[in-house]
Amino acid sequence: MADPPPSAAEVVARLEGLKGALTPAAAPPPSNAPIPSLAALQGLASAALEPLAAHEILLNALSRTAPFPLSDLNPTRLGNMGAHGVLVNPTFIEACAHQSVYFYLQADGLVHRCKAGTKETPEIVLAATGEKDEDFWLEPPWFEEFEQLVAEGAPVLLIGPAGCGKTEATEQVFAKRGQTLHIVQCTPRSRADDLEGTNELVQAQGGGIITAFTPASPAIASREGHGLLLDEADAAPASAMYAIYRLLAGKEMHILRAGLDAVIPRDPALRIVGTQNTEGRGDLSGLYHARAHQDEAFLDRWGNTLRVGYLSPEQEVVVLRRRHGLSSGQADKIVSSAKSLRKALSQDEIMFSITHRRTLAVAANLAANRTPESAWSLACINRATPTDAAKMLAVLQRIYGSTWRKK
Ligand SMILES: Nc1ncnc2c1ncn2[C@@H]1O[C@H](COP(=O)(O)OP(=O)(O)OP(=O)(O)O)[C@@H](O)[C@H]1O
Ligand SMILES: [Mg+2]
Repeated sequence: MADPPPSAAEVVARLEGLKGALTPAAAPPPSNAPIPSLAALQGLASAALEPLAAHEILLNALSRTAPFPLSDLNPTRLGNMGAHGVLVNPTFIEACAHQSVYFYLQADGLVHRCKAGTKETPEIVLAATGEKDEDFWLEPPWFEEFEQLVAEGAPVLLIGPAGCGKTEATEQVFAKRGQTLHIVQCTPRSRADDLEGTNELVQAQGGGIITAFTPASPAIASREGHGLLLDEADAAPASAMYAIYRLLAGKEMHILRAGLDAVIPRDPALRIVGTQNTEGRGDLSGLYHARAHQDEAFLDRWGNTLRVGYLSPEQEVVVLRRRHGLSSGQADKIVSSAKSLRKALSQDEIMFSITHRRTLAVAANLAANRTPESAWSLACINRATPTDAAKMLAVLQRIYGSTWRKK
């Protein structure tokens, strides 16, 4: 059973303890605000909130770079602001204390953030049952803008490293929109036929053989007003992509085939998204082989391009815990390791990407009761070159210490 959430009195006591250690990160809290009485805080701090829900609200708050309206924090789940402007929901304060921050309402009517000088790290406990969710999805910081761009209608190209969530984010956006999504998996062998369709011999009703046109996904998406994802678009050769130039440019599709000169109508609801790892100039990193040199005219037809990256460490911890039910200690260690190994990659010390796919694979191995050594070996080390493996092991053993071989 998970521990019960702390009582309001316990949280207030902890908050009182934190106050001395708080140092303003941006603007200081209002100095003339009255210090609330314990009774007032307890009265306000009664709204029920699950620890993980609180943590997700906090992540949303942490992702904001500027002061924001209280309504953005979903006040019905948080309760009210205290008289001194600190958000007083006990579970939310617990989550904040974990990150050494607190939020307060400033005279400008917006919520501001303060960073605590010392760190308290209470365990955020997974609720006893039903919290593990293998499909759990946490909206990354760029998701809202992505969703907005899709809604507006111009095609959107997502460029970012492997396993950072581009494909899944696109699926989530279309699921939220309630719009069917066709996923075209682009490959170095993609041809115009894969994007337009093919003429095939079929049995006619009267018994003879006739030629009939079978449209490919982009043509169907255009006709039906569905979503279209060109996944790994930089894998396809430039020659195949001519087939969808007109769709990308907001027009209907023209298909020329033997016996067919067809215009595929374009439903205004059609939405197009592309994902890729490179900027379309081939592989500059050494990590993405077989990427095409894309045609400038192709790249030019995307209305908007978003550069996207990995989740923040705090967000990745939440994803690992929710998807595989790990303790915060287990998830923290995976994410600290990932952070160090990603730094090593960015400094060209190793050639191995620790993607969200890899950290999730490590998490799944730990959830299957493997030791950290076995979990990391199976998910990563065994397919690193011997030189990289040695460097990665040194990082991991430093982070795990004596727990490296313990279940
Ligand atoms: N925000 C997130 N919340 C939960 N899971 C996530 C999130 N982002 C990524 N993942 C998980 O990480 C894995 C990789 O995501 P995805 O396949 O979407 O990456 P990608 O950017 O499309 O990678 P690639 O460039 O290799 O195709 C998936 O298992 C996905 O569910
Ligand atoms: Mg993908």
